[in-house]
Amino acid sequence: MTLKAGLFGVGTALPEHRVGNDHFAARLDTTDEWIVRRTGIRERYQLNGRQTLADIAVDACEEALADAGRRGDEVDHVIVSTLTPDRLTPGLAPEVARRIGAREAGAIDVNAACAGFVYALDQAAALVESGRANVVLVVGAEALSRITDSTDRGTAVIFGDGAGAVVVAGGQLERGCGIFDLHSDGAHADLLYASRDERLLRMEGREVYRHAVARMVESMRVALGRAGLTPDDLDLFVAHQANARIIEAAAAELGLPSEKVALNIDRVANTSSASIPLALWQAERDGQLVPGATVGLAAFGAGFVWGAGIVSWKERAYVTA
Ligand code: ACO
Repeated sequence: MTLKAGLFGVGTALPEHRVGNDHFAARLDTTDEWIVRRTGIRERYQLNGRQTLADIAVDACEEALADAGRRGDEVDHVIVSTLTPDRLTPGLAPEVARRIGAREAGAIDVNAACAGFVYALDQAAALVESGRANVVLVVGAEALSRITDSTDRGTAVIFGDGAGAVVVAGGQLERGCGIFDLHSDGAHADLLYASRDERLLRMEGREVYRHAVARMVESMRVALGRAGLTPDDLDLFVAHQANARIIEAAAAELGLPSEKVALNIDRVANTSSASIPLALWQAERDGQLVPGATVGLAAFGAGFVWGAGIVSWKERAYVTA
């Protein structure tokens, strides 16, 4: 077996401030019933000024490192996926690296909207498998409340804030986490964007929905093919938590039963690039995700950008168990 990148730890953090659907029902022309039925969302968390995005990103990283049995000073590269950093510049990654004790580690922010975590994971796997890094922290951290129009019922109810991190390192692994299929199509940029001046997310929800299902399924099939697998071989499907109906429609097209589908959007809403690590963390807590599992990841977001990956979960822990 050759050296492959693998996933060895996961951590998450949510802001303190919980916001239920009743908050929006009291202020907008919407209801808890509509939000639950059309999106699956019941609550979300929002940064409210006392915490920064870096604060929750650091908490997520520290939990992921502890879960992987690693120290911050072993990390030689930090990749933060975010479209809502605390400052325009510097990015979040240098601060996260400093605060976790990854002294002088490489540190970069990436922005591929809701597909950012999958893109960042691909980069981390490439760094490890090419020998340019040994331990990479990949963090999805988002404060979408900063760029959400609280008066627009079509977007206000669906976004949330949060952070999730995984530790990527090398090992003698069978599958690891290095098989990805990534794409973009800038022709659809106007269907989902935030302009420099307005700084608020604008979305043609129905159109985005249609593309999201088709592209995630298409990409998942390509990634499965690259891994020599079929949907039946997946133990868990973890898609970007944009809308429960999008995830259920994609899973149905792939022929996956509901017990093989991760769904935590009810608790955290759409947290953009934080959503996949938040869903992985929840699935592990719920006993849906165990070491050695083969997991299909899929994401879609503004750009459009989308992609899918096949990863094994904590494979070395399983091999040495
Ligand atoms: N409460 C009540 N009614 C609403 C609400 C609301 N909160 N929001 C929209 N509606 C209304 C609309 O105005 C529309 O009314 P009309 O028929 O009178 O015009 C009706 O509900 C249906 O609107 P649709 O947009 O067709 O509703 P849909 O079922 O598609 O749900 C949603 C809207 C939740 C936004 C959905 O389209 C969606 O999830 N889209 C994709 C989101 C996504 O994947 N984003 C990508 C990642 S995000 C990123 O990259 C940052």
